[in-house]
Amino acid sequence: MHKIDIELVEMTMDVMKYTIDRISSTNPKIGKPKKSEELKALVGETITREGIGGEVAFKKWRKYLMKSNVPVDHPRNLAFVPAAPTRAAIMFDLVTSASSIHGAYWMEGAGGIFCENEAMKWIVSLTGLPKGAFGVFTSGGTAANLSAIVTAREHWRENDAFKGEKGLIIASIGAHSSIKAMAKVADVDILLVDTEDIMYGSELQKTIDGLTEHQRMRLFAVVGTGGTTNAGIIDDLEGIASICEKENLWFHVDAAYGGGALAADSVRHLFNGIEKADSITIDPHKWMFSPYDCGAVIYKNLELAKQAHSQQGSYLDIFKDEGAHGFNPTDYQIQLTRRVRGLPLWFSLATHGTDRYKEAIERGIELAQIAGRMIEKNPHVELVREPSLSCVLYRRIGWSPEDYTHWTYENHRKGFALVTPTKWKNGNAFETVSRFCFINPDTTENDIEMILDSMV
Ligand SMILES: Cc1ncc(COP(=O)(O)O)c(C=O)c1O
Repeated sequence: MHKIDIELVEMTMDVMKYTIDRISSTNPKIGKPKKSEELKALVGETITREGIGGEVAFKKWRKYLMKSNVPVDHPRNLAFVPAAPTRAAIMFDLVTSASSIHGAYWMEGAGGIFCENEAMKWIVSLTGLPKGAFGVFTSGGTAANLSAIVTAREHWRENDAFKGEKGLIIASIGAHSSIKAMAKVADVDILLVDTEDIMYGSELQKTIDGLTEHQRMRLFAVVGTGGTTNAGIIDDLEGIASICEKENLWFHVDAAYGGGALAADSVRHLFNGIEKADSITIDPHKWMFSPYDCGAVIYKNLELAKQAHSQQGSYLDIFKDEGAHGFNPTDYQIQLTRRVRGLPLWFSLATHGTDRYKEAIERGIELAQIAGRMIEKNPHVELVREPSLSCVLYRRIGWSPEDYTHWTYENHRKGFALVTPTKWKNGNAFETVSRFCFINPDTTENDIEMILDSMV
């Protein structure tokens, strides 16, 4: 398995050919999910005592298994939060794997971590956080949100008065599901301000004022969203920051999806107040064109993250030694062993420069505006709300929830597009609507037009 032989050489050629074909394709096929039993029937037993051989396994991958995936970078994949890793980043993802770097400690991964930190400096500079703020790459937004919540909770519990208390955080119902999920993991209660639209400081204040004395004592953090996943809405970060400061609460901003737009001059002002956050989540694998998986958590005070996350163990003692000193990513988030997952982003940023990133992100915002104008002109559809960041919510006039579902499956079945429905709160009721989320700068106006036409 660890030998270098002709089979390895052939495998390398096959993998490189496949990679080149895949990354030079501008219109990869939208695959369809098959049931596990169907896939098994197609490929048979692949894990055997003797192995089936790389050539056979790779053939099965190409012929059957790859075709059962939906490429996130397809220009008409506008569902959920799609992605569009740059080709440079994808190539360097291969280099990252081939380099076999342990990315937890500087002692082993100094070169890789140095590159990650260069990319991180750019991300941190977009936030406007004060000097000393810094971050670390995580497996995604969920891990970044958890790392931040745990840091906030541990900091709060430094006060003996709160040691035996279960913490409480406030977010809005527009906050991403991972905030609720991670509150569960961290065993803290969560209170949701009843708005899917902008959470204003005034609403937050009202919610805090309405807490019981014990709830107020348990409250330690507020989560604002810098671009809701459903609609691209940015909370009143300035207002929330002021209240957090006044009430002595940790202010976390979840900008996992929207954080890329900090680089876009056209919308940067909407994030004002983010520079006062105690922690921020930004996912480079969403709108910073990194391959999966690559999230980031940034802290105003890095030391607090270290106090919460630094792992102790006799076999880790060497890392406290002067000779091993440097930036240790493991100290600032929940994971020990880690890939240097910021490396592909570093290479792509170094290759293209930050201006190209700015342009590509602005294009996503522009596509949302273009889609909005097309919807306004089309008699069959109407906007549910103005496009925000790169999200567009719109309704097909006269459609029931089942119509949206049927349309989604039909487009998927034809291999034409992946556009999925969502729900939007209309008064007290939830309405099923259609949603676009633009990330890929190669999506064209024609793609949008074709999708809208398919609703007629
Ligand atoms: C605002 C927001 N926060 C958190 C997450 C979770 O991120 P991940 O899927 O990378 O764990 C998402 C994912 O879409 C998101 O949009």
